[in-house]
Amino acid sequence: VKTILGREDGGVGLLGQTIIVGGWVKTGRSSANVSFVELNDGSCPANLQVVVEPHIEGASHVTLTGTSILVEGFLKEPPTEELKLKQKVELSVVKFIHIGTVDSKNYPISKTRLKLETLREYLHLRPRTNTISAIARVRNALAFASHTFFNQNKFLYVHTPILTTSDCEGAGEMFQVTTLLNDAEKRKQEIPPTLMVMPGESQPEALAKAPKLIAGIPHREDGKIDYTADFFARQAFLTVSGQLQVEGYACALGSVYTFGPTFRAENSHTTRHLAEFWMIEPEIAFADLKDDMNCAEDYIKFLCQWLLDHCLDDMEFLAKMYDKTAVERLRMVASTPFVRITYTEAVETLQKVKKKKFEKKVEWGIDLASEHERYLTEEIYKKPVIVYNYPKDIKAFYMRLNDDGKTVAAMDVLVPKVGELVGGSQREERLDVLIQRLEEMKLPKEPYEWYLDLRRFGTVKHAGFGLGFERMILFATGIENIRDVIPFPRYPGRADL
Ligand code: 4AD
Ligand code: MG
Repeated sequence: VKTILGREDGGVGLLGQTIIVGGWVKTGRSSANVSFVELNDGSCPANLQVVVEPHIEGASHVTLTGTSILVEGFLKEPPTEELKLKQKVELSVVKFIHIGTVDSKNYPISKTRLKLETLREYLHLRPRTNTISAIARVRNALAFASHTFFNQNKFLYVHTPILTTSDCEGAGEMFQVTTLLNDAEKRKQEIPPTLMVMPGESQPEALAKAPKLIAGIPHREDGKIDYTADFFARQAFLTVSGQLQVEGYACALGSVYTFGPTFRAENSHTTRHLAEFWMIEPEIAFADLKDDMNCAEDYIKFLCQWLLDHCLDDMEFLAKMYDKTAVERLRMVASTPFVRITYTEAVETLQKVKKKKFEKKVEWGIDLASEHERYLTEEIYKKPVIVYNYPKDIKAFYMRLNDDGKTVAAMDVLVPKVGELVGGSQREERLDVLIQRLEEMKLPKEPYEWYLDLRRFGTVKHAGFGLGFERMILFATGIENIRDVIPFPRYPGRADL
């Protein structure tokens, strides 16, 4: 449909052509001598008007919302001037190749506009709505734009692991991984540290035959084997960030990025947090904090401009429905330099605010809350703000210690509507300082030995950041809740479908 209606001439140049189109009926109506169907095929927010004469086989079954049709027809002019204003072409049906009927009494996605919250009950059907399909296309465009941006700038795309034993942020917000295989009763105390499963053999069968060994297998406090740990020989988790691993690649290949799902078991019931979200994490060798901020700013601007150039129909639809300023905001962000202030300046600025009482008092040393971040970007500067040089005590162990001994070379990009969109830093490349930071933060050294190796062997200054992909979609579209911009949201209480 987009290849027809999305043309500059609105499809006029295609009049008379025969086409086949498949899609789902948005609305339909019948009169004695003709039926009309508004057909959406997911390619764009617009529907193609389909005209069905009553003698066509199946004509009486195609007008209910949700019906799927694959139809052959020819493009013709709408009969009246008034209709031509709405759409320059319509499809006159020759025959239906497929009709998938719908039990409209039980079809949950009815014609009437449902609240986004209600639609979350139907994650499998909600992509048929105008809103969720527009968001899906915007999401797709932003993913493609991300790869384009980094490839144009000669970054190499690296796939980092989902399963890992390292806690990148050191915040303990990790999901533990276990296996259903590990039935404590069946397997009692002794299991082999490695297991060979032969073709045609199930894992329990292989286990039964395996030599009995206990060596190296972690035990729980009650003396029983920790069955969640045995598969990988130690406890594994779902990754919270691909940063540590991607640093290894940056320290060999120069400029790299990873883009994948990340998981956090933070019990946040907010409109900005998910338990599973996607993150784009570039990492640049021989770069410092300033290079890092420049890269983040260029990347966000590129994404905004990309949506204006490639997704304007969807953006205008979403702006009309949810946030009148969304398109304007993209234009502003694409063309305005971001504000850059230190954390200390941000705190001083917020302390001067008399008009508003913040729930969390602003003092040097606090982690800025969403209310502070949004106030800076929405009320004070009215544009994206990069805050840098945060107190070391509220940031992760790997961030480079500044000469003042109190702050680290960290930066967050804050944006209107969302607050924190990006978190990044220059990394601590000095072995002794990094070891000291691990000790100060009471983190065990052993799991990070490999990470310390990157400083032992050919260390180099380097920097990177993580952009929360769903937060970028929230920011771009003006949708209020992060649960509506990922196809299958996971949050406390929900991982089904
Ligand atoms: O600030 P964060 O925790 O930084 C890191 O994970 C670094 N290791 C990234 C790096 O330097 N390579 O997370 C980065 C971004 C945040 O700014 C936010 O946009 C998003 O990830 N984010 C979340 N998005 C949705 N749900 C959550 N629970 C999120 N937690 C972080
Ligand atoms: Mg952060």
